[in-house]
Amino acid sequence: MYKTPVILIALTSLISGCVPSSHAPVGVSRTPYGQIDGKSVFLYTLKNKNGVEAQITNYGGIVVALKVPDRQGNFSDIVLGYDSLASYVKATPYFGALIGRYGNRIGKARFTLNGTEHQLAANDGANTLHGGLKGFDKVVWDADSTGPGATLTLRYLSKDGEEGYPGNLNVTVVYALTDSNQLRIDYAATTDKPTVLNLTHHSYFNLHGAGTGDILDHELFINADRYTPIDAELIPTGELRSVEGTPMDFRTPVAIGARINVEYDQLRFGKGYDHNWVLSRYGVGLALAARLADAKTGRIVEVWTTEPGIQFYSGNFLNGTNIGKGKIPYQYRTGLCLETQHFPDSPNKPGFPTTVLNPGEKYKSTTVYLFKIGT
Ligand code: GLA
Repeated sequence: MYKTPVILIALTSLISGCVPSSHAPVGVSRTPYGQIDGKSVFLYTLKNKNGVEAQITNYGGIVVALKVPDRQGNFSDIVLGYDSLASYVKATPYFGALIGRYGNRIGKARFTLNGTEHQLAANDGANTLHGGLKGFDKVVWDADSTGPGATLTLRYLSKDGEEGYPGNLNVTVVYALTDSNQLRIDYAATTDKPTVLNLTHHSYFNLHGAGTGDILDHELFINADRYTPIDAELIPTGELRSVEGTPMDFRTPVAIGARINVEYDQLRFGKGYDHNWVLSRYGVGLALAARLADAKTGRIVEVWTTEPGIQFYSGNFLNGTNIGKGKIPYQYRTGLCLETQHFPDSPNKPGFPTTVLNPGEKYKSTTVYLFKIGT
């Protein structure tokens, strides 16, 4: 009698040919994850009717795990991360995190807005990266999981002057896992003083499953005719350069490893791919930015966004020192990021689309990671 449910589950799995992702219920469930600065941190499991699952914590809005099926129906966790909150707090190359106020780099950690120069926290040589010393990836967000469906709403007030940025910025980020296998991220913000912002998400994908080899055989398509070349400090020069005839051309899907080691100044500066592509998009609304495909497992991730750019970072700084989930050290290029964004260093590049937000305006941005299976 006692064993009947287990046998039933096993039989159902056999009949459908599927390995269930976990026993979390469809919708949202929550477990305690720890305490930071006297605030409770939770791990929320969002699960849809297909068994796809996203585990997200309100510390940094980090996507801790993302379980999707392969073509046989076997679920794997396809994002890099850690087994405990303590490891995220100790040191992380932004695994799975929400990034703000300003995703990517601002050169010399300063910018001038309406005649006032703002000095920011420098945390990447002389430059600022991903919000500074304590960006949105390192704060505890207020969380609400009562919304309809598998939805998690995160809120954070970034105070005037935080990391050097002007204005009290009220930020809301909604993660939603839909039954059409989309992890949708809606960002919104308002400010009480003119400021700059550029919010993004920093999951490291490995479609074989996190911790199982590198990503060099993944095929990538990027919907972009141009990219923003960088200098040796990874700051854009301001130019929008054609990808034509270069290893930056992903308009036809190509394996990431096919050209990553060719002699090319941009690949030398980035130590591989670590660049912003200028999306070929027309009008407003969601447009396809990139498609990542793994022929071995059949897993595909499409990235759709309202943003004008996408950073493709090929995990060039991973070197085995981050001991990830299951105690596996994450080696060189074993995960890659597809970060939708405005262009890096826009506050200092008048030719780039503006990242200024004024009082009375509403910042809105949406990115969808859509999981599919190829043949
Ligand atoms: C980004 C940057 C990279 C690197 C990683 C984190 O995406 O573009 O240069 O800093 O974050 O290691």
